[in-house]
Amino acid sequence: VLGWFYVFPVYRFPSDKEIVEEVLGLGEVWQKNQTGIDLYRNLLTECCNPRWMFAVTKENSPIGKVLWYDGEFYHSRSVSNKTYSLFVQSNPLKLPLKKCAVVGNGGVLRHSKCGRDIDQADFIMRCNLPPLTKEYVEDVGTRTHLVTANPSIIEKRFQNLLWSRKAFVDKMKVYGSSFIYMPAFSMKPGTDPSLRAYYALADSSSNLTMLFANPEFLRSVGKFWKARGIHAKRLSTGLFLVSLALGLCDEVTAYGFWPFSVGLDKQPISHHYYDNILPYKWFHAMPEEFIQLWHLHKSGTLRMRVGHCP
Ligand code: CDP
Repeated sequence: VLGWFYVFPVYRFPSDKEIVEEVLGLGEVWQKNQTGIDLYRNLLTECCNPRWMFAVTKENSPIGKVLWYDGEFYHSRSVSNKTYSLFVQSNPLKLPLKKCAVVGNGGVLRHSKCGRDIDQADFIMRCNLPPLTKEYVEDVGTRTHLVTANPSIIEKRFQNLLWSRKAFVDKMKVYGSSFIYMPAFSMKPGTDPSLRAYYALADSSSNLTMLFANPEFLRSVGKFWKARGIHAKRLSTGLFLVSLALGLCDEVTAYGFWPFSVGLDKQPISHHYYDNILPYKWFHAMPEEFIQLWHLHKSGTLRMRVGHCP
């Protein structure tokens, strides 16, 4: 028993209820802190250079360049003529981005009425091709500028695009003319589905632009947060996007980040705004990530929206 004491001496992770109390205690008070914003932009620029590195581009990944997969122990792929032709020339985002909204998929968004607030941002980022159907518009909004897509979604929801390309292209229309950001070079099995998604969109003259996440960027962002106490094997998609936003935007507001079992009204809450699954803590390090984001909220570096929007 004493052994455990030496391994985990004082730190105890707060319970969900304690977190609710902490958040309620602070209330709606929030003040932007330009020094904090500048500090984080500089830290992220130094470690991870998001402007130059967030996507695989012709500029940062010429033919012959070796891309090391960030989610595998030891796996790489050299850029060939063929893959090179799929990369955008350079960072296509029109910088600097002013007000950014990063939208996680947490159940707190349901009945939040945050849709209008989100839609008013200049640049809106969403995770994992979330549903934006009518029933959710009031809570999550309609506009999107960048949306991530995990290759596993292509496999599971779109039969790996082997015979459902049209359904995929049609489903993507809700994201308008945004960027679709795929970690194509993170895990070995993810590359082919990502390339197929690229071709499905290109062949249908879709308005979406495919951006492949740069594995070097993902790895450096992972290290950045590891040094700040997040010990998961892999960061959640939402934290990658918040990091990107902190590096590129003048102001960041995060919505839908609440990986806890009860809401601010102390009632049970689902993991996602669009399902009824309860959150499972042990899966990701989302609660740990939340604590970090909450520190940033308290210091005025970004704003977290965890309750209703005005
Ligand atoms: O793929 P992943 O499980 O990371 O994400 P998701 O469930 O599609 O949700 C998108 C992002 O929202 C996550 O990566 C988290 O950062 C955030 N999230 C949260 O903070 N609390 C939740 N209950 C659900 C998602």
